[in-house]
Amino acid sequence: MNVQAFDLRDDDRRPPVDDLVGIVQRGLRSQPKRLPSWLFYDERGSELFEAICEQPEYYLTRCEIELMAIHAGEMADVVGPEVRLVEYGSGNAVKTRMLLEHLHAPVAYVPVEISPEPLRRCVQETSERFPSLAVQAHPGDFTRPLRLPIPPRAPRRTVLYFPGSTIGNFEAREAAELLRKMRGEMGDGGGILIGADLKKDTAVIEAAYNDRAGVTAEFTLNMLVRLNREIGSDFDLASFRHRAHYNAMAGRIETFLVSARDQKVRVGKQLVGFAADEAMQVEYSCKYSHEDFASLAAKAGLQIAHAWTDPESMFAVYYLVRAGAPKA
Ligand code: AVJ
Repeated sequence: MNVQAFDLRDDDRRPPVDDLVGIVQRGLRSQPKRLPSWLFYDERGSELFEAICEQPEYYLTRCEIELMAIHAGEMADVVGPEVRLVEYGSGNAVKTRMLLEHLHAPVAYVPVEISPEPLRRCVQETSERFPSLAVQAHPGDFTRPLRLPIPPRAPRRTVLYFPGSTIGNFEAREAAELLRKMRGEMGDGGGILIGADLKKDTAVIEAAYNDRAGVTAEFTLNMLVRLNREIGSDFDLASFRHRAHYNAMAGRIETFLVSARDQKVRVGKQLVGFAADEAMQVEYSCKYSHEDFASLAAKAGLQIAHAWTDPESMFAVYYLVRAGAPKA
C-alpha cells in the first residue's frame, strides 16, 4: 500500500465553532473591519474557486498551466532526481500532475491540505495516476509547522511546491514568515517551487477579480453564507456587494464586502453595525515584479535560483533555494 493516511489530530482540524465566532467578532471589531481569506474555502467556496479558474478574465490559472506545459521538464531537471515533493494546498491536481510526470524517480509526494474531501480526492487521483509513487497525505494548515511523514527512502532533497500565487494572499510580513518556515522545512539542500502573479496593466488585473459572469462576486459573498450556516450569524446577502480594486501603491488586489445600507448584523451575542458603503476587507492578492519577489525571498533567507515566465510576463514560477547556496 503506497498511500499513507495520517490520523487527524486536534490541532490539524479547523478551529472549533467557538473559535470561529471569536475570530469573526475580532475581525469585525477592527478598523476597518476585516475577515480572514481562508474563510472562503468551505466546500462551496472551493467549488466556486474552481469555477473562477475557468473564467476568461481569470488569466492566472491558464498562464501557470501554460508555463508548466512548456517548462515542467526543465523544472524537473533543475530540482534534480529523487526529490520528495511537498505541496502546500493540494488544490489543483492539473499543475502537480504536469510536474510529477517529469520528475526523475520522485521519492514521495506529500499533499498538505486542510480540507478533508479535497485531500482525499487528491490522494486517490494521484496514486491512481502514479501507482508507484508513495503518496503521503498530510492533513492540516500549511501555515503551521509541518510534521513531515518519514519517506519510504532517503530523498536527495525536499522540494516544496506552492503554485497558484497563493503566497499573494499574505501580507508582506506574513509572506516572508511563511517562506522562512518553508526554508526550514525544505532543509539545507532543498528548494521551493512557487507560482507568483506578476504586475501588469491594472485593467487586466482588475478584470480577473471582477469577472462578467459574477462568479468571483458569488465566491466573495459565499463567505457570509458560510458564516450564517456555521456560526448562525444573520448577514443579509442582498445587502452586501463584492468589490475588488487594484491598489497600485501596495501592488495588490484588495477585495471587500461592501454594505449596501446602514444595517446591524447579529454575530454570536453581539450586534455589529455597518454604515452604508462601509467596506469590510476580505482578501489581498499581491502582485509582484521580479525585484519584488527577489526581495521578498531575501527577507526569508532565500534567493531565486531559476525563474520561468511567459513572453508577456503575466505569471512566473520561481525556484528558490537558501541564500548563499550554489545556484541550481
Ligand atoms: C487562490 C489565492 C491565488 O488571489 O487570485 C481568486 C483566490 N480570489 N479570485 C487569488 C481568488 C478571488 C486566488 N488565490
